[in-house]
Amino acid sequence: MTTTLITGGTVVNATGTGQADILIDGETIAAVLAPGSTLLGHDLASSVDTVVDAAGKYVIPGGIDAHTHMQMPFGGTEASDTFETGTRAAAIGGTTSIVDFIVQYPDQNVLDQYHAWHEKAAGNCAIDYGFHQILSDVQDSSLTAMDELVAEGVTSFKLFMAYKGVFLSDDGQILRAFQRGAENGAVMMMHAENGAMIDVLVKQALDAGHTSPYWHGMTRPWQAEEEATHRAIMIADLTGAPLYVVHVSAKQAVDQIAAARDRGMNVFGETCPQYLYLSLEEQLGASSDEWGDFEGAKWVCSTPLRSRAEGHQHHMWQSLRTNDIQMVSTDHCPFCMKGQKDLGLGDFSKIPNGIGSVEHRVDLMYQGVVTGKISLPRWVELISTTPARMFGLYGRKGVIQPGADGDVVVYDPNGHTSIGVNKTHHMNMDYSAWEGFEIDGHVDTVISRGRVIVDDGGYRGRAGDGQFLKRGLSQYLI
Ligand code: URP
Ligand code: ZN
Ligand code: ZN
Ligand code: ZN
Repeated sequence: MTTTLITGGTVVNATGTGQADILIDGETIAAVLAPGSTLLGHDLASSVDTVVDAAGKYVIPGGIDAHTHMQMPFGGTEASDTFETGTRAAAIGGTTSIVDFIVQYPDQNVLDQYHAWHEKAAGNCAIDYGFHQILSDVQDSSLTAMDELVAEGVTSFKLFMAYKGVFLSDDGQILRAFQRGAENGAVMMMHAENGAMIDVLVKQALDAGHTSPYWHGMTRPWQAEEEATHRAIMIADLTGAPLYVVHVSAKQAVDQIAAARDRGMNVFGETCPQYLYLSLEEQLGASSDEWGDFEGAKWVCSTPLRSRAEGHQHHMWQSLRTNDIQMVSTDHCPFCMKGQKDLGLGDFSKIPNGIGSVEHRVDLMYQGVVTGKISLPRWVELISTTPARMFGLYGRKGVIQPGADGDVVVYDPNGHTSIGVNKTHHMNMDYSAWEGFEIDGHVDTVISRGRVIVDDGGYRGRAGDGQFLKRGLSQYLI
């Protein structure tokens, strides 16, 4: 059992900040001490195995990215990060837990897929990992499986209102799954886009000769997101199930969520860095010498990047201040341009949907602190504490306090991180969606259950360090 002392830092929890030393004993935080404390007359620094000097730096609970898709089969290919490469990149970026999505396609058995995902992840992860379960085309057997999965610590289920024949469930199927969630206590997660409307718009665009990635955004308008978000809220209201709307990008969808919350409902929203920083005009409409107007494929994801002229990004930052949106995940779903995104050359609807950001979420959200959009405790709340509470991990994760797992990040506010320039990232992608972003701040040290796995930016961990997180029910419900 090793002991680690983090000295001289400013500890930031969601509840506030303070100067403190942190003692980690084995895998667990043993004490949060006044700076320079001795224990029973012993100078702590000379009695522990490792001392981490955090003077002038922030000491925060490790990031929790509650929305990732490692090696997910999708869009005619498979997401390019494995559990090994993706969790290593996450660790380097200050994330010490992920919650990844098990996929069940319509012809597959839910429990078979649950076991298959364990096989993919076991022994390969750099950091701890839990699972949500995707349910497609919900059938009776899937409803039964929901109860079994809740007992296994998979306490949240994602359903889709889009992707006909792939993920889509109709409203009746969604209603039945929500009824089950209301009974067994699971959080029901929704991909809220009106797929029928989108499918018509996509066909019309292609028939009119519009084939570039920009049209991915043009054919998934905010009305499709607002309408589906409203419908999901009504199904949640009818059944009493808690609703968590994933990857919210439209300001009108935010307003639907805010209105439901004002009525006292257990309705929650997640957004992602791409919806705070990137846009339809600048990224989906981009063009380059190498790719021409196909450049925008780098940023094809669903829900899509929204128009900056319409003000979605600004509204989304506001919603993080007001808690109309409660947390920020990445929806990390990486694909390379060569051999994957280029499946959609000449037809935007064939571009695999997804952006990779798992390495950059902590840094990108810290820029909200730098620019005065959010406070330091709110930063920690959005990237760690609320994800822990929302998905039944709080106490163990999401907080620096005695008894919590020793998942701690030392973050240097005076450091600097260049993202994606000359492929500096560690995600298994041949480009970065964040090319050219310059970050004020730096992830210096990452400790996962008491082991230093990142030391001044360098990875020191091993595949297999990470363990499966058997999650409890949500601790965030009203
Ligand atoms: O474009 C996206 N978001 N790809 C991942 C699948 C999903 O809908 O989350
Ligand atoms: Zn989705
Ligand atoms: Zn996703
Ligand atoms: Zn540094």
